[in-house]
Amino acid sequence: MVQASYHFPRGFLWGTATAAHQVEGNNTNNQWWQWEQTGHTNGTSGLACDWWGGRWREDFDRAAEGGQNAHRMSVEWSRIQPTPDTWDEDALEHYRLMLRGLRERGMTALVTLHHFSDPLWLYEQCGWETEAVIPLFEKFVRKVVGALKEYCTLWCTINEPNVYALSGYVAGTFPACNKGLNIAMRVQANMLRAHAAAYRAIHEIQPESRVGYALHYRPMKAKNAWSPLDVWMRNIQYNGINMAFPSAISTGVMKSPLGSVRIPEAKGTQDYLGLNYYSVDTVKFDITNPNEMFGRRYYPADSDLSTTKFIANIPEGIFDSIKWAVRTYPNLPILITENGVEDAEDKMRPRYIAQHIHQVWRAVNFNFPVKGYFHWSLVDNFEWERGWTQRFGLWALDLETQKRTKRPSADLYAEICKENGLTSEMVQKYCPEVFDKLFPV
Ligand code: BGC
Repeated sequence: MVQASYHFPRGFLWGTATAAHQVEGNNTNNQWWQWEQTGHTNGTSGLACDWWGGRWREDFDRAAEGGQNAHRMSVEWSRIQPTPDTWDEDALEHYRLMLRGLRERGMTALVTLHHFSDPLWLYEQCGWETEAVIPLFEKFVRKVVGALKEYCTLWCTINEPNVYALSGYVAGTFPACNKGLNIAMRVQANMLRAHAAAYRAIHEIQPESRVGYALHYRPMKAKNAWSPLDVWMRNIQYNGINMAFPSAISTGVMKSPLGSVRIPEAKGTQDYLGLNYYSVDTVKFDITNPNEMFGRRYYPADSDLSTTKFIANIPEGIFDSIKWAVRTYPNLPILITENGVEDAEDKMRPRYIAQHIHQVWRAVNFNFPVKGYFHWSLVDNFEWERGWTQRFGLWALDLETQKRTKRPSADLYAEICKENGLTSEMVQKYCPEVFDKLFPV
């Protein structure tokens, strides 16, 4: 049997990613909590992973013992600024403690400033729909960065603006004040303006900072490459879903299915690109689906599908995403800010991890500047409208007791982090079914 290994450069960041509302518990003062209490989600976030109650300590221990040298977490705006005119210094102190906790465990912090949740007071004034949000976000960011800068230099302004806007304002699975594609695009334009303002504010406060955002990047292919309608639809969907932020950051003009919007201040406002990659969509033209611009995105029947069919395991997609990033932004550092799969039984996750990390390794060996990988996620957490029906954790969570149980993937990921690479022994031990793919003779 082949014996080989795929090693990463020294200093590569290995971590997991989490988001405040999904792990903290009792985030009663944001729009998601309200949305949950009114029956829009599969269960409620409740105590979540009880990080606000202090269980971040044991979970950070798990991460550190598992060889992780970094962690991506987010701060909850509604805790820090519970009303428009108050700051909660205790909440900021709580985050300082957590970040100190990471430092004490030898882990680099990456802090996300907005990950899907908004304070109720902001939501009640229709939040990101109007430009009024821009100075409000900047003010919040200045406060947070001022308070946390001792412990963090790596910032992510906004997580997945495209998912936030399209899930809320078009699909209706996330809370949103009004609905419509035009509003989703206006929301992204305001997020771009707020991101640009935050980018400058952070650099002003902390010149050595590195600031970016996390893009949910969705590679897509046409069902039939010979069908002009499928190809056309693939391009519409691809640009509509992926390109608002990247286009504006490249050129200062936001591309949108409804036309272009000039946002000159956004140009060049990233020091790294955060890529969230999960899967690849196949797209076909579908006259019966006006809600999705007459397109249908799906996974072919022969895909390697996750338990709830939410994700198809397509590891080459992460390589293609990185390649796209390098072509769009030559020489810009890239962080994989999320990648993972829901799999309560941990049947697919080991091969998903091994195959995706192998593709990241390939990218690194093309000299593509990938500097880190953050697995989604450390512990099962509250999956938005899907609630607790999907389990993304390396560790399983028992909601009743708060007990964590290690999945085999946690051991595999720990071996990868400690080795700074993936070896044939690991693949043989955790996912022998893909051995020949990863280590061909
Ligand atoms: C989001 C996470 C979410 C994950 C898995 C990403 O789109 O940033 O908050 O939990 O996907 O669904």
